[in-house]
Amino acid sequence: MKKNEPDPRRGLPVSSVLAVACVFLLLVSFAPRAAGAEGGSGAGDDDEAGRTRHRDQCGDCGELVDVNPKLSFPNPRLRAAYIALQAWKEAIHSDPFNLTEDWVGPHVCNYTGVFCAQALDDPNVTVVAGIDLNHGDIAGYLPYELGLLADLALFHVNSNRFCGTVPRTFHKLKLLFELDLSNNRFVGKFPRVLLRLPALKFLDIRFNEFEGKVPRELFDKDLDAIFINHNRFSFDLPDNLGNSPVSVIVLANNRFRGCIPASLGNMSKTLNEIILMNNGLRSCLPPEIGLLKNLTVLDVSYNELVGPLPGNLGGMLSLEQLNVAHNMFSGKIPESICSLPRLQNFTYSYNFFTGEPPSCLKVEAFDDRRNCLPRRPVQRSETQCRRVLSRPVDCDAFSVLSTSAGIFAPAATQFSATSIPVSATT
Ligand SMILES: *[C@@H]1O[C@H](CO)[C@@H](O)[C@H](O)[C@H]1NC(C)=O
Ligand SMILES: *[C@@H]1O[C@H](CO)[C@@H](O)[C@H](O)[C@H]1NC(C)=O
Ligand SMILES: *[C@@H]1O[C@H](CO)[C@@H](O)[C@H](O)[C@H]1NC(C)=O
Ligand SMILES: *[C@@H]1O[C@H](CO)[C@@H](O)[C@H](O)[C@H]1NC(C)=O
Ligand SMILES: *[C@@H]1O[C@H](CO)[C@@H](O)[C@H](O)[C@H]1NC(C)=O
Ligand SMILES: *[C@@H]1O[C@H](CO)[C@@H](O)[C@H](O)[C@H]1NC(C)=O
Repeated sequence: MKKNEPDPRRGLPVSSVLAVACVFLLLVSFAPRAAGAEGGSGAGDDDEAGRTRHRDQCGDCGELVDVNPKLSFPNPRLRAAYIALQAWKEAIHSDPFNLTEDWVGPHVCNYTGVFCAQALDDPNVTVVAGIDLNHGDIAGYLPYELGLLADLALFHVNSNRFCGTVPRTFHKLKLLFELDLSNNRFVGKFPRVLLRLPALKFLDIRFNEFEGKVPRELFDKDLDAIFINHNRFSFDLPDNLGNSPVSVIVLANNRFRGCIPASLGNMSKTLNEIILMNNGLRSCLPPEIGLLKNLTVLDVSYNELVGPLPGNLGGMLSLEQLNVAHNMFSGKIPESICSLPRLQNFTYSYNFFTGEPPSCLKVEAFDDRRNCLPRRPVQRSETQCRRVLSRPVDCDAFSVLSTSAGIFAPAATQFSATSIPVSATT
């Protein structure tokens, strides 16, 4: 896994929780259970997925959990939570750390991984406000009864073996603020029900097996963080990407295609980190990226990006980490990039650059291997360089989607092999 990619095993940044309300502070102090256990067999996954679907279709068809009439609950919401949690326990078939062993009886607030707080709309009522089963290594699925947890603000089940999909009843979780389903075995289409959660800010579904398109509405939603990396999503990045007010967006390691939309420039007030690596993106870098003056991490490595790096990138005054390696970029690296005041690491190996100003060699950490740079070690062969560089790159041909406002002068995009000094080293 890449250094810049937040580790899914770490869970969502707890700092985000602080922003909500002290109601949730207790959740921060929850220490994840012992890590390091090897996952058991995921036996019956297909079965489970089938059952989940079936039950989900069942919708509100009634309680499958029988509530013993002798049990007494402080309020109806805790009774509903009891039903949800018992249904969930039934849907769990392996729990190696016995986390749900104490999910017995009416005191749901004492259950491991379940956190209660005063209801936001009625301080006299205690409700289930958070679930944290991170690193539980639990195998099972999410039953539709979880929609009964209507007061839930946090739902963290990172690093388990949950399979199937997200039940449609999640639309009832009107207060859900942080959702972390990462590092599980969820499958199927992007769970559109998540787009209907009005309070959602942190969406983390990375390291699963979701597939198909990512709905463009995702980028119109008022989220703070989007982690959908390491799935099987496959679609063209939509031109409304720039509408997203997120500070962090990680789309790496999917099967996206197409262009990097120029609308990215509209994220300048909020965007702090964007990771687009390994997605099959094929275009030039839109100069509008240079407007992202608060961006600290930009990683577009392992794509099929072409053309020069726009000099406008020198506008990214907060940039610390820049990785453009393993693309087909060419041309001279603009001085403005290498003299960015906070730049610590500039990786541009495995491209076809033909010139670098001396300032690039002064960046704290840089990697210029396997380019077409004269008098530099470990470059591509002359033949290789000539073959690629003799093909002209027309960035305008890619900009069908990128309705650039024309505020930037077009960069030179034509190269001819004859004018390129090439040093052929191994
Ligand atoms: C979980 O419970 C089972 C049965 O009670 C026990 O054998 C096992 O050691 C427990 N596992 C852990 C990690 O406590
Ligand atoms: C569970 O919590 C209740 C208060 O909500 C408390 O009275 C009871 O002793 C607790 N039970 C256990 C087993 O900790
Ligand atoms: C909470 O309980 C107090 C004391 O019993 C009562 O005065 C108050 O009206 C209640 N608040 C709500 C929102 O029900
Ligand atoms: C930014 O958004 C405005 C409207 O909100 C739009 O007119 C403009 O084209 C967008 N800029 C880019 C670079 O997409
Ligand atoms: C955004 O960047 C500007 C210029 O580098 C800086 O002055 C400002 O503090 C940054 N804002 C945030 C929220 O990081
Ligand atoms: C610089 O970034 C590259 C790519 O992300 C990484 O492989 C390398 O370890 C980093 N170098 C340093 C010194 O942090």
